[in-house]
Amino acid sequence: MAEPLAYINGEWLPHREAKISIFDSAVMLGDCVTESTRTFAREPFRLEAHVARLYDSIKVCRYDFDMPREEMLALSLEVIERNADCYAPDEDLWLVHNISRGGYPMSGDQSAKRVPTVMLHTAPMDLTYWAAFYLRGCHAVTPPSRMMPAQSLDPKIKNRSRMSYTLAELETKLVDPMAQGILLDHNGLLTENKGGNFFLVKDGVLRTPRTLQALAGVTRQATLDIARDLGIPAEERDLQPYDVYTADEAFFTSTPYCIMPATRFNGLPVGDGAVGEVTIRLLDGWAALTGVDVVAQALGQLAEAERAELFAQESWWTRRTSR
Ligand SMILES: Cc1ncc(COP(=O)(O)O)c(C=O)c1O
Repeated sequence: MAEPLAYINGEWLPHREAKISIFDSAVMLGDCVTESTRTFAREPFRLEAHVARLYDSIKVCRYDFDMPREEMLALSLEVIERNADCYAPDEDLWLVHNISRGGYPMSGDQSAKRVPTVMLHTAPMDLTYWAAFYLRGCHAVTPPSRMMPAQSLDPKIKNRSRMSYTLAELETKLVDPMAQGILLDHNGLLTENKGGNFFLVKDGVLRTPRTLQALAGVTRQATLDIARDLGIPAEERDLQPYDVYTADEAFFTSTPYCIMPATRFNGLPVGDGAVGEVTIRLLDGWAALTGVDVVAQALGQLAEAERAELFAQESWWTRRTSR
């Protein structure tokens, strides 16, 4: 299959040749905003919302950027279109936007006008890492490092300065190599994961932290929309670790996997330790909304032996498919 093309400032380059300067502010400072959109059956999901968030990030970061939003939308679709044949017909894609402030002046004088570096590329939507979590749930862990305060870097800016999340995730993996981090803020309130938002369910009510210390995830919003349509009450509010210890269900949300159930929290079972009914209804709601069942998609990407191992243990999925 042909090598996919990346777009960099007006040029279309095969991935192996798609390179930026060592002096780019993305490299020098991590000064780069980003978006990741996924397709469902090759249709980009809520692309307008991703591009709107990208333009909000660009504005707040004060980039000198004049590409009209419609042009960015058209370019995004063009990247997907140009790379369509580079992936298997039943494969979905990531579409990634990275936009940096541009070249970093080594002189110390930062006042010159800079031309942003606009980078768009695609990647296959590989869900194998999350496949087992859909059936068994993951272990959510609060690392000792705290969320960077929004007063320093507002997490609503989707950016590539990821050192704090990376260090927190490394701490999380010290507890359990497969654990997924949920960062606390300086007041001990739940915020988000390095790449996802967090929800819990208590007495049938869905609860998620407000976006004071978390990205306003597109998947978070879509999950709230699905809950509303299914008549599941939802609240955005402050949450503490205690709320997760005593919750009935918990899960993360993010673009690639939609919903990743969490069935343990800091070593204790969440609810009865199995993926819960509300989580399953929401996963079904995602399938209805997008026309793609992400759980089946993820399981379909596993090697036969891995799938057989997963199916050897009882889960909500094995119970459903054996009916
Ligand atoms: C820090 C962070 N929080 C939350 C999310 C989830 O956002 P979305 O649902 O828009 O993918 C992401 C996505 O990458 C993220 O990086």
